[in-house]
Amino acid sequence: VSENSRRDFFKRSLPLVLAASPWAANPPAVALAIPEPQGETISATENLMKEHGVIRRCFLVYAAVAARLDRHQDLRLSTLGQAAGLMRLFGEQFHEQSEESGVFPVLKKANRLTDLVDILVAQHRRGRELTQYFIGVSKADSLSSIQRTALSTHLWSFGRMYAQHVAREDTEVFPALRQLLTPKQLADLGNQFADAERRVLGKDGFEHGLERIEEIERELDLGNLARFTAPAPPDFPLPAGGARKQPV
Ligand SMILES: [Fe+2]
Ligand SMILES: [Fe+2]
Repeated sequence: VSENSRRDFFKRSLPLVLAASPWAANPPAVALAIPEPQGETISATENLMKEHGVIRRCFLVYAAVAARLDRHQDLRLSTLGQAAGLMRLFGEQFHEQSEESGVFPVLKKANRLTDLVDILVAQHRRGRELTQYFIGVSKADSLSSIQRTALSTHLWSFGRMYAQHVAREDTEVFPALRQLLTPKQLADLGNQFADAERRVLGKDGFEHGLERIEEIERELDLGNLARFTAPAPPDFPLPAGGARKQPV
């Protein structure tokens, strides 16, 4: 439904865009040849990137937990357990599984980005070990100082690894996938991912994942986005004698 409405929006908007553009007076023929977006073709990789958004938010929760550990602040370990549980279900059993069954084999078969894919698979594996560790730790009654330090170290390093991981997938792996598959193959892959979503996460799986991470964020006081707006920068003193010439 959303893809249809997006297509309809695009059809309705195109004349307006052209009317407002410098092409309006005498639009060249090429302007009318803008290809219509192909719904499912876009959604297979778009969905993977959207899932990265939920996973990134899990890592923002991990960062908040690690920061509390570092500052010796109170922390409910069950909150970490909830985030790790979401990472296991949504991140590993659904998203990473989709990549390992539907994305990486296409690249391997075409001999594209093979070294990168090997690293990404190894990172999925390491991530599963870390998730298991976090879930175990989250069930403890309390942690010693050494255990708190170790937990914090692994939370930060998992976040560092996964930030790099999703950045490479978004900018290298998914664009390569779109080059290698025909629109029909991409549409089939999108349907395969949608089936996996229903099977692993249930109906409205993505939306439920989003609701879960929002609940966890509220527990850690991360729910208010405006709180994270950066402060204004200070005035930067100019050298004596006035403003420096702006480089051309
Ligand atoms: Fe991945
Ligand atoms: Fe991914």
